[in-house]
Amino acid sequence: MTPSSPLPGHPHVLYAPSGSQHALYVEGVRVSDLARQFGTPLFVYSKAAMLSALGAYQRGFAGRQAQICYAMKANSSLAVLQVFARAGCGFDIVSGGELARVLAAGGDPARIIFSGVGKTRAEMQQALKAGIGCFNVESEAELDVLSEVAAGMGTRARVSLRVNPNVDPQTHPYISTGLKGNKFGIAHDRTLAAYRHAAALPGLQVVGIDCHIGSQITEITPYLDAMDRILDLVADIESAGIPIHHIDFGGGLGIAYHGETPPAADVLWQQLLERLDARGYGQRPLMIEPGRSLVGNAGICLTEVIFTKPGEEKNFCIVDAAMNDLPRPAMYQAFHQIVPAEPRTGPGVVYDVVGPVCESGDWLGRDRVLEVQSGDLLAVLSAGAYCMSMASNYNTRGRAAEVLVDGEQVHLIRQRESVFDTFALEHLPD
Ligand code: LLP
Repeated sequence: MTPSSPLPGHPHVLYAPSGSQHALYVEGVRVSDLARQFGTPLFVYSKAAMLSALGAYQRGFAGRQAQICYAMKANSSLAVLQVFARAGCGFDIVSGGELARVLAAGGDPARIIFSGVGKTRAEMQQALKAGIGCFNVESEAELDVLSEVAAGMGTRARVSLRVNPNVDPQTHPYISTGLKGNKFGIAHDRTLAAYRHAAALPGLQVVGIDCHIGSQITEITPYLDAMDRILDLVADIESAGIPIHHIDFGGGLGIAYHGETPPAADVLWQQLLERLDARGYGQRPLMIEPGRSLVGNAGICLTEVIFTKPGEEKNFCIVDAAMNDLPRPAMYQAFHQIVPAEPRTGPGVVYDVVGPVCESGDWLGRDRVLEVQSGDLLAVLSAGAYCMSMASNYNTRGRAAEVLVDGEQVHLIRQRESVFDTFALEHLPD
């Protein structure tokens, strides 16, 4: 192990000398100190990693009119939102709850876009009252209801229609969103008719077009294909006399969980912008909605080994984090690297790393070689996106605490949920 070598894909997570050993650090803070202070499971985020991920997009769009709207479903903790709000981001929201959160964190309503297939009338009203920038509308039925709600409030809702470009993003089926069989967006063939309909409704003002083809995309080609299909539509819609002010290309850029090599955001956008320029749309205001690529590799989850348990076919390393904290392996068979906070020397044993939840699906990593004893601390990597925001209380487990590291400074940004918090809203009938 070289001193101070960052972990691949995690520029701000590194092993550095600590006494005669090496220990894992996030920026300038030794993670074992955080576990001692705040307990486990504990999510630890690097502010520098978030800002450098954002920086790659900002570099990619230098000199262009572009709005980066952080897709806050990836990690909606208030302090994370505040980091992005202060760095000038807008936000992509998918519920009234997310709207309330982002406003509480200081987000600018004018830079909020509202996506999602099932917005309720109450959510539409809430968003119109807040003065959000744009609704990304996902069906013709939604156009009608949104127009009615806005007209009833004496206003017009700015809308963009989410088009389903029918492009295969080559990712996990649960996180593909732009294929014909997906519930998202308006079918490519229906788009022009839907725009005509939208333009004729009294409560709407058409401002843009958008798409989102999927998540954890590691290739450039699906984006280029989607861009071509969207630009063809822009040409058709504008020929029908409906001007399209902005084009929103969604989110979806993947991160390195296990040796994947997704393009850097600036490299991806250099190629996409070349295509946009070549097709004569280079000056059009752009929007994007990245989530995972801004926060995924900025976070780790610290967990303590409770027991090691040799089995007949498998050895188990039972830790205090579980599928309720880190749902991605159980839901998508996703791979997260798992590394020791203070490595021991030794040959290692092949373990399945599992949580205490009563389900065989409660695993965090399979067939991992680890040299561990009970009481040791492990770090589950790439845990900044779609972990805390998808956490639950299954098995009456309080949700984990979160800290944000900024250089050598540590901020507790969410305290651990107590068991009393988990049933505070329940009532006994008598
Ligand atoms: N915009 C829209 C409309 C979306 O549906 C999504 C993600 C994003 C933006 C952000 O995409 P990203 O840049 O994060 O790929 N829970 C899954 C991922 C679900 C993604 C859903 N939509 C996972 O853990 O892999």
